Amino acid sequence: MSAVHLVLVGLMGSGKSSVGRRVAETSHRSFVDTDHRIEKIAGLSIRDIFSNHGESEFRRMESDVLRDVLSSATPTVVATGGGVVLSEVNRDLLGGHHVIWLRATIDTLATRLVHTASRRPLLDGDVRERLLALERDRSNLYRVVSSRIVDVDDLEVDEVASLVLAAEARS
Ligand code: S3P
Repeated sequence: MSAVHLVLVGLMGSGKSSVGRRVAETSHRSFVDTDHRIEKIAGLSIRDIFSNHGESEFRRMESDVLRDVLSSATPTVVATGGGVVLSEVNRDLLGGHHVIWLRATIDTLATRLVHTASRRPLLDGDVRERLLALERDRSNLYRVVSSRIVDVDDLEVDEVASLVLAAEARS
């Protein structure tokens, strides 16, 4: 029997990994970052998976990892990649779990991503333009899959982690 897991979704830079790790520590749960797991399985960085094998192969791996993590019997906090909601299969997999959208303004995301955008192939070019396009395409999908929204602008990791735990308790 799989457990009900806590899953964080949201655009790149919204803090899914750092907040997820903190929430897992605080609540004594396992933590999985799907991007890290994919990189480990492939033995390649996300950028190299995209350039050597294409985004579709990355998405296939992402679905496999999501399915595997969500089928675990161990209650887990899961940080997903920003594009996890694009696939209907993934959106279905998320049903029945506590899914929380870490929402941030484009200004917040662009500022946070200044030093790490180069690791993210979908941000190649004008980061702000790319983020705006992703937000346009995905906001509704984040809304559809999530039971709660936490606005993260101007908040520290600890503060967001507390809000996530409170939101989960109300779910
Ligand atoms: C992606 C987000 C990235 C990573 C990949 C694609 C996306 O994860 O999965 O570069 O489609 O938004 P983060 O949201 O953790 O940066």
